[in-house]
Amino acid sequence: MKLIQILVGTLVVIATVAALLIAGLGEPVRMAETERAQQARSIQTGASVYETYCTGCHGLKGEGIPTVAPALNSPQFFTQRLKEIGYTGSLRSFIESTVAAGRPSNTQYSAKMPTWSQQFGGPLRPDQVRDVTSFILNWEKTAGTQPLPTPGPTATPLPSTASPEEQGKAVFLADKTACKACHTIDTEPSAKGLVGPNLTHIGTEAGTLVAGQSAGDYIRASIVNPNAFIAPKCPTGPCTANVMPPTFGQQLSQQELDNLVAYLLSLK
Ligand code: HEC
Ligand code: HEC
Repeated sequence: MKLIQILVGTLVVIATVAALLIAGLGEPVRMAETERAQQARSIQTGASVYETYCTGCHGLKGEGIPTVAPALNSPQFFTQRLKEIGYTGSLRSFIESTVAAGRPSNTQYSAKMPTWSQQFGGPLRPDQVRDVTSFILNWEKTAGTQPLPTPGPTATPLPSTASPEEQGKAVFLADKTACKACHTIDTEPSAKGLVGPNLTHIGTEAGTLVAGQSAGDYIRASIVNPNAFIAPKCPTGPCTANVMPPTFGQQLSQQELDNLVAYLLSLK
């Protein structure tokens, strides 16, 4: 009886040690698998962040829009960009910090890269900044090997005999303002941005948002001083400050601004 107990006891110990050993050996494999799965999830989540916030300026597939914003899905971006500007960190940290903090206005592009992370007043959480970065980095393998959409033709300026509303609409739809990259107007096929409020009925809504401010004054203030009043409702939740570029007051002529206000006022 004693002997059997000892035997069983020994077998149990051997089995336990063997099980622990096998589990231990499998650990690195499992960790690598978990990491791969996490990476795949991050890229997937990043794709939807990109679609909502970035396509308007950088294009559906990262092809860029000439004069508006640079291509990100290009071999130059992956192999030359860091050298060009003398950045010594990793490409991941370059992308993450650019997305998080944005870029001040520049002379090469008409649009301004907004500040995106909550840390700097934008709409994205740190994990969303990391995810959209994973999504962009995932282009590296195929950059330059796949045909990308060619950006559509830029709107041609209207003759000055057009009505102020029509001229204002042309300003709104022009690549140089990128209004359409961030705002949707239901009746405008090219204005399908999901970053800022839907402006389909702004002519009516504008008069109801700030006590004592007429619709026209509200719209004008929203364009030249976007942080003075933060609109309540954006497509993905409450709007945040520092996303709409604050530079349109300098960028647009008085005439363009007047026409733009006239156009938005006409959207009832
Ligand atoms: C309103 C237009 C606009 C939107 C929307 C926008 N960007 Fe940008 N982005 C720009 C412009 C313009 C630049 C170039 C700025 C410069 O060179 O000074 C830029 C630069 C960048 C760069 C650096 C590229 C380089 O070669 O240096 C990255 C990375 C980037 N954007 C990622 C994003 C991501 C990710 C999103 C979405 C979360 C986004 N951008 C949304 C306009 C935009
Ligand atoms: C990079 C994205 C972006 C661009 C480009 C942009 N906007 Fe905006 N816009 C926003 C966001 C986000 C808000 C909401 C936060 C706020 O009120 O500042 C907003 C708010 C507005 C509002 C107030 C809407 C409301 O419901 O109260 C108006 C009007 C407006 N934008 C017009 C324009 C016009 C006109 C242009 C082009 C000259 C433009 N925007 C370019 C992101 C953008």
